[in-house]
This record gives sequence, C-alpha cells and structure tokens, in this order.
Amino acid sequence: MAASGMEDERLSGEVRREEEDDDVPQLSAAAMEALREFLAEQQRPEEKDEEGREGGVELVAEDWRLSQFWYDERTARALVEEVVRLVSPSVSGSAAGAVACIACPTLYAYLKKTDPGVPAQLLEYDERFGQYGGDFTFYDYNRPEELPPAMKHAYRVVVADPPYLSKECLEKVAKTVSFLAQPEGSFLLMLTGEVQKDRALELLNVHPCGFRPQHSNKLGNEFRLFTNYDPADRLGGWDLGAK
Ligand SMILES: C[S@@+](CC[C@H](N)C(=O)[O-])C[C@H]1O[C@@H](n2cnc3c(N)ncnc32)[C@H](O)[C@@H]1O
Repeated sequence: MAASGMEDERLSGEVRREEEDDDVPQLSAAAMEALREFLAEQQRPEEKDEEGREGGVELVAEDWRLSQFWYDERTARALVEEVVRLVSPSVSGSAAGAVACIACPTLYAYLKKTDPGVPAQLLEYDERFGQYGGDFTFYDYNRPEELPPAMKHAYRVVVADPPYLSKECLEKVAKTVSFLAQPEGSFLLMLTGEVQKDRALELLNVHPCGFRPQHSNKLGNEFRLFTNYDPADRLGGWDLGAK
C-alpha cells in the first residue's frame, strides 16, 4: 500500500485537475470523503474498542485481497468463552490443552486478551501477525502440512476459518486440522459458509451450530459455525435440521 501522504497528494492533485477542467467527471464530495476514509482505514491499525468497551483488542486493518473479514466482538467473545471452557483441565483432562487458531487472528487476539495463560498458536498467511512472536506460525493452506514437526498432533482444540469457500481450500485445511489434532480426539470448531455444510461433514465430521457468527463488515453469504461435538446448551447446540 502506498504511503498515505502520497495518496493524499495524488487525490488532491486529481481534485485540482478536475476543478480546472469542467468536462472531466468529478467525484461528489461525499464519494471523495468515503474514498479518503477507505484509504486511511487501510493504513492504520484497527481499534476495536471504538465504543469505549473495556477489553477490546487491536487488530490490523482487514486486507480484502487476503479474504480478511474480522468477527464482531460478540462473535469473538462467544468463541473465546467456548475455547477457554474446552481447554480447561476439567474438560481436557489433567493438563490444560493447547489451542491452534488456523487463519482466525481475531479469535487468537481476543483469547490472549481474555486469558493470556492459555497456550495458543496462530497459523496465518499474513505476516503482519508476526507481531505475536513465537505464537505466530506462517501458514499457507496450499502447503497444508508444511508446519513445524512439534505442532503435529499437539492441539486439544483446533479452530479454523478457511480463507476461501472452495472445495480445494476446505480439503487442504482439513489436512492441516488432521496434522494438528490429537489422535485420541480433539475439539474442532470450523467457521465457514453454509454452502460448505456437506463437504465439511464428509471431510471433518462436523455439524452446524445454532450460533450465527457475525463480522464487523457484513458478509453477503450465510456463515456458520461447525463443530465435531455437540455443544448442547452452548452456542445454540447442533442445528441438525439446517438445510
Ligand atoms: C475469512 S478470514 C478469517 C478471519 C476470521 N474471521 C477472524 O476474524 O479472525 C480468512 C483468513 O485467511 C487468511 N489467509 C489468506 N490467504 C491465506 C492462505 N493462502 N493460507 C492461509 N491463510 C490465508 C487471511 O489472512 C485471513 O485471516
């Protein structure tokens, strides 16, 4: 992304030129303002506590070229509550379990803000998340098992939000899930479009829950949370009647 000064100069230069030439179509003041806001948004870290709520986390700005759509706060908090419960020794066994967050940086950020002691690893393609130090692992779904050997079968809870709605992407992410999950069984939470329902069942034995994940910027397609266990009275339980 170009530096904001350059963009501003380019924009104001265009406005000046447009003012000098009445024949050239001009952006309305409102459209210009919207464009400026969009460019500024792309260049500053996003502050999710804009409503003054305590516990909001800072995220980098969404990059739509990487299919980045961040959960809204309610969604992130509901997922964190579930994950924290699943890794607790009472559910996970004597030792607290670890969490793998595949391509879901918002979940990772809220988890660490809520309960910094939970061992969690973020697998992400966007190197801006290198800010999380040793908790960040570069991950490209096209190379689903090109991961450090120490991560193999090491996670009690795996959460995944694949970047694309294609069959190919889900198949590859499913390989990563198998790589990370414990052979004796792990809790899997998969967030993806409802259109993936049949494939997700076939590949990962997951069912949709009643809980509806939402994003800060509304998405056009129906989005679901799928799990490989029935959360019963949490997250709306399994919605087995879903079409
Ligand atoms: C649909 S978003 C999920 C983000 C989630 N809703 C959140 O708020 O944390 C998909 C994620 O996949 C990542 N991504 C993009 N290209 C990828 C690739 N080739 N391999 C793995 N992850 C990728 C993006 O950076 C993005 O964080």
